[in-house]
Amino acid sequence: MNILLIGSGGREHAIARKLSMSKKVSKIFCAPGNGGTALENKCENINLISIKELINFAKNNSIDLTIVGPEQLLIEGIVDAFNEEELKIFGPHKEAAKLEGSKSFSKDFMKKYGVKTAKYQVFENAEKALNYVRTEEFPLVIKADGLAAGKGVYICETLEEANNAIKDIMVEDIFNGAGSRIVIEEFLTGFEASILSITDGNVIKSFISAKDHKQILDGDKGPNTGGMGVIAPNPYVTDLHLKDFEENIMNRTLIGIKEENLNFKGIIFFGLMITNKGTYLLEYNVRMGDPETQSVLALMDSDLLELIESSFDNTLNNFKIKWKEGYCCNVVLASSGYPGVFEKGFNINIDDSVKDSIYIAGGILDSNKKLITSGGRVLSVIGTGKYLEDSVKEAYSKIKFINFTKKYFRTDIGKIENNNI
Ligand code: AMP
Ligand code: GLY
Repeated sequence: MNILLIGSGGREHAIARKLSMSKKVSKIFCAPGNGGTALENKCENINLISIKELINFAKNNSIDLTIVGPEQLLIEGIVDAFNEEELKIFGPHKEAAKLEGSKSFSKDFMKKYGVKTAKYQVFENAEKALNYVRTEEFPLVIKADGLAAGKGVYICETLEEANNAIKDIMVEDIFNGAGSRIVIEEFLTGFEASILSITDGNVIKSFISAKDHKQILDGDKGPNTGGMGVIAPNPYVTDLHLKDFEENIMNRTLIGIKEENLNFKGIIFFGLMITNKGTYLLEYNVRMGDPETQSVLALMDSDLLELIESSFDNTLNNFKIKWKEGYCCNVVLASSGYPGVFEKGFNINIDDSVKDSIYIAGGILDSNKKLITSGGRVLSVIGTGKYLEDSVKEAYSKIKFINFTKKYFRTDIGKIENNNI
């Protein structure tokens, strides 16, 4: 099969490598891809961005299946557009993608179908929102409704912070329209976990859990980032938490998808907060997570293409997803300065002994086909092992074989003891 894979991050490099291992895959076109996919077996980067260009490419190049990495095009309706042209594409239709694209849509959906989530109110008027927060207890969480590049969530400790958040989002409109509506919700205390799943609209199957490390500094300090490392499975998630998740979150989500007639063959990412009152859903993403995917796919023993195909053939119910035993630790190597200002364009040197343990995120090939840094999060290094400690040790032992100027990484991925509850 010829695959068209859309996206340019570490997640897409991981998907491309996993797909390349499938005997059924002959070629993977990565649009636009990155320096990692450019060098990957069976892969070729193509510099196309718009839905129209991608449709033309798929038609003219005998593409059998398109897979969408990031959320933006899903929310814009790429799946609807491909389907209108009778092209096969893996992902939710536009209406279903609102589960990620609109926080008020997803919270209303959760409430309607009894999916366990924090209490909330939706506001379209800043005055009313300002009045509401005056009567509430703190901390409070204020969220812009639409996509805000991961920056639309404010945890407010005081009334003043809440007032400022509402003004930023609704009055100053700093997210360019994403904040014309906001969600204000109860603050939950606990620890976070990510669980990916695959659905065909009738059946849903979860993947192993993962633990992201969002903050830039050791000890979960400093500003949030796109993710500085992941452990999979999440060592704090117990069977009881999983049962709670399946009964009160995942299965109810599937019921909602069916009842609402949402057209969804794709991935659902559940962003969870595990509290001493049980497992709560913070958010849905309608695609694989980054950097969770890099760790989770490293442990997947099943053929990813066959798994995706089963969602089209209505055989997902019988598909047993196989996982390797043990853990995967993914340490992100970033450009010093990130998530603030950082320099790019430095050579990335990777020893051959570790190249199969690396997923490139912010790295491209220069005109001499040499890998150079192009982003804040440059790459992930993966370690696996029967025990968590082994996987952590292995990932960290490989870092010295990867060099670029201004290399920065957290030293405590997989080592944090405190889980907040
Ligand atoms: P979201 O985009 O909704 O997942 O929010 C981004 C991050 O904000 C989450 O990963 C949490 O760290 C935090 N967060 C969101 N909602 C809440 C909440 N209700 N209580 C505590 N923290 C939250
Ligand atoms: N790691 C969370 C996300 O992909 O949005």
